[in-house]
Amino acid sequence: TPMIAAIIVAAYLLGSISGAVLVCRLNGLPDPRTQGSKNPGATNVLRLGGGFCAAQVLLVDVLKGTIPVYGSYFLQVEPVWLGVIAIAACLGHIYPIFFGFKGGKGVATAFGAVAPISPGFALLLIITWGLTFLVFRYSSVAAIVTAVLAPIYTHWLDNRFTIPMVMLCTLIIVRHRANIVRLWQGEEGKLKRR
Ligand code: G3P
Repeated sequence: TPMIAAIIVAAYLLGSISGAVLVCRLNGLPDPRTQGSKNPGATNVLRLGGGFCAAQVLLVDVLKGTIPVYGSYFLQVEPVWLGVIAIAACLGHIYPIFFGFKGGKGVATAFGAVAPISPGFALLLIITWGLTFLVFRYSSVAAIVTAVLAPIYTHWLDNRFTIPMVMLCTLIIVRHRANIVRLWQGEEGKLKRR
């Protein structure tokens, strides 16, 4: 329907707005695409500007996923299309129309987009990311491990979303290829307590 098509385009455009670029600009920090890992995401803003700035990025990027998906759910959009809308939001973050299609890795936006499946599912993802991070101290490893497990959790909890979840998680893992190379070479930046 035209309404669903409009929502998909709106989700992509909203996803294109980079929380990291905005927050860095507003706080007088350097462009996150030029410093650190050069990734416009909460992790890199944590390196560049500390926890408070990173938390703002996280909030903006998570909401870019949650708003279109949860909004559509209230408009009685069918499950298949909710999956498409979630992917559109993440494609906006990863390949933004505003910044020469050079975006982030989609972790926060994907979390925001899939969290409405259920509070238990959202909690499971947070616990998976958190435990993996505590063990390895790499944001990228935590994201990759969570992206590998998320489709399995989805299959258990609500198998209507298994296929879109596999697509989304594959996209996220592929986006981490530079991190995987750096991890392999022992050059990935660990996040330490300051
Ligand atoms: O969310 C992105 C994170 O998994 C890796 O970020 O800056 O370490 O490449 P970064």
